[in-house]
Amino acid sequence: MEHASDVGLYGLAVMGRNLALNILDRGFRLCVYNRSPERAEEFLAEHGAAYPGLCRAASAEELVAALARPRRLILMVKAGEAVDEALLQLLPLLAPGDVVLDGGNSHHRDTERRAALAAPRGVHFVGLGVSGGEEGARNGPSLMPGGDPAAWPLVRPLLESIAAKTASGEPCVAWMGPGGAGHFVKMVHNAIEYADMELIAEAYQLLRSYVRASHDEMRTVFAEWNKTELASYLVGITADVFGVMDEDGEPLVEKVLDSAAQKGTGAWAAEAALELGSPAGLLAEAVFARDLSALKDERMGASAVLGGPKAAPTGERQAMIEDLRRALLAAKIIAYAQGFQLLRRASAEWRWGLDLASVALVWREGCIIRSAFLERIAEAYRREPGLPNLLVDAYFKALLDQCMPALRRVAARAIESGAPAPAFSAAVAFYDGYRSTWLPANLLQALRDRFGAHGYERVDRPRGESFHSEWK
Ligand code: 3PG
Repeated sequence: MEHASDVGLYGLAVMGRNLALNILDRGFRLCVYNRSPERAEEFLAEHGAAYPGLCRAASAEELVAALARPRRLILMVKAGEAVDEALLQLLPLLAPGDVVLDGGNSHHRDTERRAALAAPRGVHFVGLGVSGGEEGARNGPSLMPGGDPAAWPLVRPLLESIAAKTASGEPCVAWMGPGGAGHFVKMVHNAIEYADMELIAEAYQLLRSYVRASHDEMRTVFAEWNKTELASYLVGITADVFGVMDEDGEPLVEKVLDSAAQKGTGAWAAEAALELGSPAGLLAEAVFARDLSALKDERMGASAVLGGPKAAPTGERQAMIEDLRRALLAAKIIAYAQGFQLLRRASAEWRWGLDLASVALVWREGCIIRSAFLERIAEAYRREPGLPNLLVDAYFKALLDQCMPALRRVAARAIESGAPAPAFSAAVAFYDGYRSTWLPANLLQALRDRFGAHGYERVDRPRGESFHSEWK
């Protein structure tokens, strides 16, 4: 088995196993390793006959020895300590020019720290964002590699081969940039995914309690929306979910406890937005909405204490449903605008040189937020690479002109009827803030100067000059 394999894969949980099969299907010779050997033994027993290019290593040493040089080794272990452990185990065994790719959802700062650890040995470390869940890993994920640029030519053929392909055959992978750029882009992908899902959930809530639509009707509504500008994987699977019944014939979704879980990437993105001063209220609300849902017991207690209006249907049903579709589209544009603004700020801050058009192109297929909409985003950044914000692109501005009145009506109805719709509300607030020539921040500055002598700029003097007044 010495030097027989093109690629090594470390970690055979679901994502690792599926990515391994994808790699084998593309004709690469693969050596797999798992810390508990039974998993690798089972994998070989199950797939060895179908894939003669598959081998199993019993130790990290064996795994490294099995790889052709320069070695390409993909870590598919849980983000966090397990990545550090694997890297520390592998580094002394590797040689200059070898490449280690971390395919987990690692924090971008951890990726940079690990790259710095690998660099003195001449080992190229790549933070590889992988999206698409189990199906994506198996059939072609969207891939977001970033890190040591010398690694790109060494891994490009492999990654292009295993990535999802668009209808015209383009692979959904591109080199994102240096340092932690790949994992940062994946983190923002997840934040947008949280926002997309929260907006869909808020639309469902209003369809359910305000329009009083049946599940069958909701399935049809989402299936119809999936033929419009909203066409996307997430809208499609929402329609599917409404069609699934429990054993008693009731819609299964209503048996699911309303307490959302999360693995942390949405919260990281909100933290990054705060750190970089990139307004992303909608993205953050999508995380907080999950947090609020998880306070199930507290909510149950509060519901007996706190009063509010009850949702009551008013108006014509079809018009309300169309308002919801438009509201969802407008808010979705605003969520993506916040996500891409965050990427832009990070790229400027850390000099990553992110190509936002290529980020959008990589997300067209394979990943959870895949949609036709991303092609439009790519076009917007191709037209104007320095676009300050997606909202002011001609295509999205025209859609917002059509849809903002509906988003306002939906957010207002939600507030009036006591239905929490934090993401819809945050979308309106961002839109109005972003288009304002004046915001009440002058008062904030005056107050800061009043209590802390922090100084302020004047509207009638050049920017940068600082003034202080006695406000008493
Ligand atoms: C993932 O990357 O695993 C998911 O797309 C997001 O996970 P979460 O909803 O559990 O945070």
